[in-house]
Amino acid sequence: MDMDIKNTISSAVTGAATLVSSLAQAETDRSNVPKTVMPGMPEQVRAAAAEGAVLLKNDGILPLKKGTKVALLSRVAYDYFYVGYGSGGDVYRPYEVSLADGIRGCEDLELNETVAEAYREWREKNPINHGYWAHWPLRYKEMPLSETLVRNAAAESDVAIVTIGRAAGEDRDNELTKNSYYLHPEEKALLKSVTAEFNKVIVLMNIGGVMDFSELQQYSLNALMIVWQGGMESGNAVADLLCGKVSPSGRLADTIAVKYEDYPSSNNFGGKDFNHYTEDIYVGYRYFETFAKDKVLYPFGFGLSYSSFSIKCSAAKAKDNGFAFTVKVKNTGACDAKEAVQLYIEKPCGKLGNPSRELVAFAKTKTLAPGQTQQLTLYVDWYQLTSYDDCGDTGNAYAYVLEQGNYGFYLGNNVRDAESVYHYYQEETTVYEQLKQAAAPPQSFDILCAREEGGKRVEKIKNAYTQKFDLASRILGNLPPSYAQTGDVGIRLSGVKSGKATLEQFVAQLSLEELEAITRGDYEMDSALGAKGNAGAFCGVLPSLRDKGVPPLITTDGPSGIRLQVSCSLLPSGTLLACTFNTQLLEQLCTFLAQEMKEKGSDVLLAPGINIHRNPLCGRNFEYFSEDPYLTGKLAAAYVRGVQSAGASACPKHYACNSQEYKRTQCDSRVSERALRQIYLKGFEICVKEAKPKNLMTSYNKINGVWGHYHYDLCTTVLRGEWGYEGSVMTDWWMRSAKSPEFPCIRDQAYRVRAQVDVLMPGATRVHNNKPDGTLLASYIKKAPQGITLGEMQRSAMNVLRAALRIK
Ligand code: BGC
Repeated sequence: MDMDIKNTISSAVTGAATLVSSLAQAETDRSNVPKTVMPGMPEQVRAAAAEGAVLLKNDGILPLKKGTKVALLSRVAYDYFYVGYGSGGDVYRPYEVSLADGIRGCEDLELNETVAEAYREWREKNPINHGYWAHWPLRYKEMPLSETLVRNAAAESDVAIVTIGRAAGEDRDNELTKNSYYLHPEEKALLKSVTAEFNKVIVLMNIGGVMDFSELQQYSLNALMIVWQGGMESGNAVADLLCGKVSPSGRLADTIAVKYEDYPSSNNFGGKDFNHYTEDIYVGYRYFETFAKDKVLYPFGFGLSYSSFSIKCSAAKAKDNGFAFTVKVKNTGACDAKEAVQLYIEKPCGKLGNPSRELVAFAKTKTLAPGQTQQLTLYVDWYQLTSYDDCGDTGNAYAYVLEQGNYGFYLGNNVRDAESVYHYYQEETTVYEQLKQAAAPPQSFDILCAREEGGKRVEKIKNAYTQKFDLASRILGNLPPSYAQTGDVGIRLSGVKSGKATLEQFVAQLSLEELEAITRGDYEMDSALGAKGNAGAFCGVLPSLRDKGVPPLITTDGPSGIRLQVSCSLLPSGTLLACTFNTQLLEQLCTFLAQEMKEKGSDVLLAPGINIHRNPLCGRNFEYFSEDPYLTGKLAAAYVRGVQSAGASACPKHYACNSQEYKRTQCDSRVSERALRQIYLKGFEICVKEAKPKNLMTSYNKINGVWGHYHYDLCTTVLRGEWGYEGSVMTDWWMRSAKSPEFPCIRDQAYRVRAQVDVLMPGATRVHNNKPDGTLLASYIKKAPQGITLGEMQRSAMNVLRAALRIK
């Protein structure tokens, strides 16, 4: 989206004086709004925030002994990062618990108040400036420490905790600078003086995504834990972990590499016009475990506990639809704790080339007492053994194939240490599912692939396979039927719901004006049709539609809570939630969120954010889950099930490849069809098939030359044709104007509706504020069938109404 439009429109709506987004974090005046707490939510948020923390190092100092006096030496302990910036973090939370307040509230720990007071005085003179839209701070300035302060603090306390804080956000990526990805000189000075004076030092990472961890290895630390951005209960959750009320059970949802340049996307990130996804399917651990094990500091899935576990596979069986693994997990340590069990597959390298490890199942145990055992069953579907042949190398182009060879299964509590438990031999290559080529790149570029040489997988380069079919013929061959317009014959939407009439009969009543209105929102954010501060309304946006019983649907941002003018719970960030490896916990958290949506007036939560962590610098990584599509998809499905449990709708976003914020509305993500399907679409696929979201949002960027909001193959061929999606698809806020290359007589709204991107949100276009821009109907009738058809408009209207019928 064009940020200028968003900012201007938001400002106009609220009458704010500045031109920056009036709905941006910490800028909206909500001072007169009462702060209410949703009953039950604090406990849910606290438990989730603790469960996602990942303990990376512990020499035995943690958990801290009862009565430990703690000195918090860093301003972030007092000015905590609860979430990242932008639409995904801007929740008007009822309260926030900083790390200092969390420790104050913990009966087992004591806070060094002299140190806290020194920080209070300095912070008063050096307040935080949250900046403005796209200019958020990436870190906060630190207080310079005098030798006396640190020495006295060491004499008075048992342990020092240094907290390193980072944030990024929407429209602002992380930077490869000392302000962001690397430690800042102020932080290095802090670490140097604290480790010189204190015998015991713990470092906590209050961050939204992965940053450099190599520099930290130079300091003598007793413990290192990533606590991420935990939402409104952050401090309480961290205190629970420090004092041992909760044993850490978070596991890394991303690989931490030795250095930034080790990430396989590092040479092709941050482009203005395009990025070639040259690493192809070798994203994150798929790359490191196959080609570069020594470039990893902390592997995917890794995380320590205060206890220890044995994980044994007691049985593995091939079944009709896949494999079942019976796993026994025993707490062999001395305290209550949970374990995250992970099962990886090693497919044969085969003709297509495959990574050495892919996550195919995971499960979290309940809290196990010392000596207690839990039996779990992990299922792997045949589909998970397949690879997509996008080039015909197996002789089966455009099909998911099960290649001939050995399939190994590895079980453990991180990708590196998982041990071989089973293998299956596939005698010959078979086709699992024949599909059509879709969304392939128009031009070739170099991509990474694996080839087996001397029993090892080695890195090779090949050419990405290009699009071979004619999209115009595909579209024209798949035009939907139209229903002769009847005018209003008295059918109400409730009649469709009760089965008295069909959706087709209902839609046949709609005039062209109504069809146009149903395919765009109510023009503005903060629509007068819904709760104050909403992100926009769609569906019943005309009085004549409402007369027919069509409700307006009110959207609000997510994912870290509900973004409205009223106070709503602030949840932990997506990355933290992913590190829980706990779908049940996430689903339950989101059932509370569903209740809160109902109470506060949100029909559609614009969440979860499920783009893949392709590169650690993406500013919105905190909103998204992981570098792994399976983990992403499973968590997304849990999120959606929870949110939709009380009748409302989730809206997974941004479909697809929104991997960076820089130039997000113009940048082209160029990616092979195989990587698209196996990595970037996979999370959406799992989520759509398992949880049936009622809405879905496209991305701002282009995918292989076509903007997400015009992408016929992504939104029609794949999403609906292959995955059976029945809901409505909306644009991200505003869209880029363009003519269809296939049908030059259609542009903008017609081009979009033809792709089944059903709704333009929030509804206005740059030049035609608050009235239709005319592009939907401009080619209707006169230019059929190249122009937009009645059937296509009715089809989109039905998609939207189907979502509405399932929401209300
Ligand atoms: C963001 C979306 C968000 C929408 C509405 C856009 O700028 O990319 O994630 O849901 O605004 O606020």
